[in-house]
Amino acid sequence: MAAIHPVFNHSTPTRQLHIITWGCQMNVYDSNRMIDLLRPLGYSVTPKAENADVLILNTCHIRDKATEKVFSELGRLKLIKELRLQNGYSTLIAVAGCVAQAEGKIILERAPYVDIILGPQTYHKLPKMILESSKKSGNIIEIDFPVESKFDFLPSTSEAPGQSAFLTIQEGCDKFCSYCVVPYTRGAEESRPVQAILDEAKHLCQLGVKEITLLGQNVNAYHGEGPQGSTWNLAKLIEKLSLIPNLLRIRYTTSHPKDMEDSLIEAHRDLPTLMPFVHLPVQSGSDKILKAMNRGHTSDDYRRLIDKLKRHKPDIALSSDFIVGHPGESVPDFQATIKLIEDIKFAQSFSFKYSPRPGTTAALSKNQISETEKDSRLKELQALLNDQQTQFNQQTIHKTLPVLFTHRGRKPKQIVGKSPFLQAVHITTDQNLIGQEKNVRIDECLTFSLSGSLV
Ligand code: SAH
Ligand code: SF4
Ligand code: F3S
Repeated sequence: MAAIHPVFNHSTPTRQLHIITWGCQMNVYDSNRMIDLLRPLGYSVTPKAENADVLILNTCHIRDKATEKVFSELGRLKLIKELRLQNGYSTLIAVAGCVAQAEGKIILERAPYVDIILGPQTYHKLPKMILESSKKSGNIIEIDFPVESKFDFLPSTSEAPGQSAFLTIQEGCDKFCSYCVVPYTRGAEESRPVQAILDEAKHLCQLGVKEITLLGQNVNAYHGEGPQGSTWNLAKLIEKLSLIPNLLRIRYTTSHPKDMEDSLIEAHRDLPTLMPFVHLPVQSGSDKILKAMNRGHTSDDYRRLIDKLKRHKPDIALSSDFIVGHPGESVPDFQATIKLIEDIKFAQSFSFKYSPRPGTTAALSKNQISETEKDSRLKELQALLNDQQTQFNQQTIHKTLPVLFTHRGRKPKQIVGKSPFLQAVHITTDQNLIGQEKNVRIDECLTFSLSGSLV
């Protein structure tokens, strides 16, 4: 039987789309936007890859393991594509995201059954690419950084992704940290205009969204075009967003210590809708390593920044990213990171073994640290960070916190939401409180979540 191309496949009422997302929140946002782009063409999302006419992998290139996953997943998708073909259905496989951007041509060599390769700045062309792919044989690749901004071509979301939504306000990075691929995969730093962000935020709230997390690789470097040719920073944008009726909570991630302006710190003090949580990656506590990383600040600069934040907002919860085993990291350098963590105390954190990435300066260094050393440093660091997270959570026991409920839990009658400090909190109730913010007394601290009861 001749294969029917997904675009012209009328054997099912709608065309099915399956999308797998790895990486940061910006990829989650991008995946939702790809769904928005394909919905008008009749695509609906299926949780089963076997049923999908179009399979999209939205990939992450940040560490080598993230990249390896793409090729092993592609092997699985190839089998699905072959099986579907035996049953008379063709399947289109697209690889999007940061691996596509960095290694698009290698993917096509290693996995020639991939039909479409598109980067984080070209995914607005996906509908056109799917159509083109239906008309010709061979693969299509779009990874040149375009002059136009993809945001000008994305349709409005027609279905809210839940009560809590991501909104990308800034893309790309010009900082070129020694270890990082993001400037190469996402391109130069660019802020979206204020009005476009306000329109998108209001639209999300009309669809029922109660919490918006503003996203950017360096979100606090935001400098978007405001009214009458003015330039707005993140604090001013958040102040304006906080006036949207029904928008209960605003968050932002990821911030760079160098771009943490006083106005943003003051916004934490002044705006109740701005949640008391800052994810401010420091990466290392050693000045020598911070310099080698090209981070542009010292560990004392970071400590002073945290002091200032705590002076303005004493109950603020802090979070960070750490890399252990950057080239040249000695035992005293690592101990300086441990000391910084002990001094500051984080509510939660992400920590990683340094992973050499193609094209980055650190990958060329001769002073690479052995895997066993990186393993043991990461273990020590994570034990400390886990302790601190547990301590932070335990401090909230018997306190009453407002919780925004977002989804059902695994157990019957259980619903789950987030505290202002981004802690997962679950309660058991007969009421349907999804989308509502309610006061909850915290009764118990579990490993990574809290349980409580309605006040
Ligand atoms: N823009 C953010 C981080 C983006 S990448 C910032 O500047 O902080 C997310 C995290 O991945 C980084 O904070 C870093 O901790 C980690 N990371 C990036 N490149 C890495 C690498 N080569 N090896 C290990 N971790 C890495
Ligand atoms: Fe990567 Fe550094 Fe840019 Fe963050 S600031 S995205 S770590 S280059
Ligand atoms: Fe990964 Fe790209 Fe985000 S490399 S972390 S998906 S910007």
